[in-house]
Amino acid sequence: MLTAQNLTLARDGRTILSGITLTAQPGEVTAIIGPNGSGKTTLMAALTGDLAPVTGEVTLNGDDIARLSPRHLAARRAVLAQETQVAFPFTVAEILQLGIEAGTGPTDSALIPRLLAEVDLAGTAHRPIHALSGGERQRIHFARALAQARRPRGDQGPMWLFLDEPASSLDIAHQLMVMRRARRFAAEGGGVVTVMHDLNLTAMTADHVILLAEGRLLAAGPPAEVMTDRLLSQAYRCGIRTNRTPAQGPYLLPQMAGA
Ligand SMILES: Nc1ncnc2c1ncn2[C@@H]1O[C@H](COP(=O)(O)OP(=O)(O)OP(=O)(O)O)[C@@H](O)[C@H]1O
Ligand SMILES: [Mg+2]
Repeated sequence: MLTAQNLTLARDGRTILSGITLTAQPGEVTAIIGPNGSGKTTLMAALTGDLAPVTGEVTLNGDDIARLSPRHLAARRAVLAQETQVAFPFTVAEILQLGIEAGTGPTDSALIPRLLAEVDLAGTAHRPIHALSGGERQRIHFARALAQARRPRGDQGPMWLFLDEPASSLDIAHQLMVMRRARRFAAEGGGVVTVMHDLNLTAMTADHVILLAEGRLLAAGPPAEVMTDRLLSQAYRCGIRTNRTPAQGPYLLPQMAGA
């Protein structure tokens, strides 16, 4: 399990997160939603151990992450950042190799082709990462996180995938592909925490939703409880109407008029 207890975080003397307490369970996809600047990326960085909170504690599978070495952290969680800059002219295979080396678990010569096929980029192993499109690069970085988290359940318990807007540059088919893959990772026993902007994609794929507004937790629970007209309209400060389809559950429509 992942827990955060009373997290407060400041940057440049400004309070960014206040009193955040939450849990996320392995076997589930937990989505963090909220407006631009509400603190989603900052919260992810606190949950992954990349930013130290002023107060509060984060535990991963029962251990305080502040006490885990970088090597132990890498064996328990993989992170897809909101933006990834690659400074060197790495090939796609070299990027995936970074993920493989950071993680633990078996590897074989078919791992890279298998990962590339999973993100619909078979045959790109020898291409420079800079020569791919924005959405293709995003899928490669997702595959790098999967390479690191190749065992959803390891010796140290569940592995955790932290994804910051994994589908933001993707076309609709690849959005579904990436979110299905994240769901499969959870179904295999891993934990997934993902920042999302697309509320419909969130409603379709999340088991648990955490709604942030202005650095505070406004609501947390199943999509049907958190993704309501009232809470979403309050958080995003615009009119949002939710509805349901019999087959797919809730969907949302922003209201152009009367917002
Ligand atoms: N490095 C930094 N130094 C100072 N303030 C920062 C820094 N990074 C983010 N902030 C501030 O913290 C707040 C939350 O930023 P954060 O990146 O967590 O938002 P977010 O919810 O991920 O937004 P978005 O949807 O735009 O990605 C913002 O007000 C931002 O200006
Ligand atoms: Mg962000």
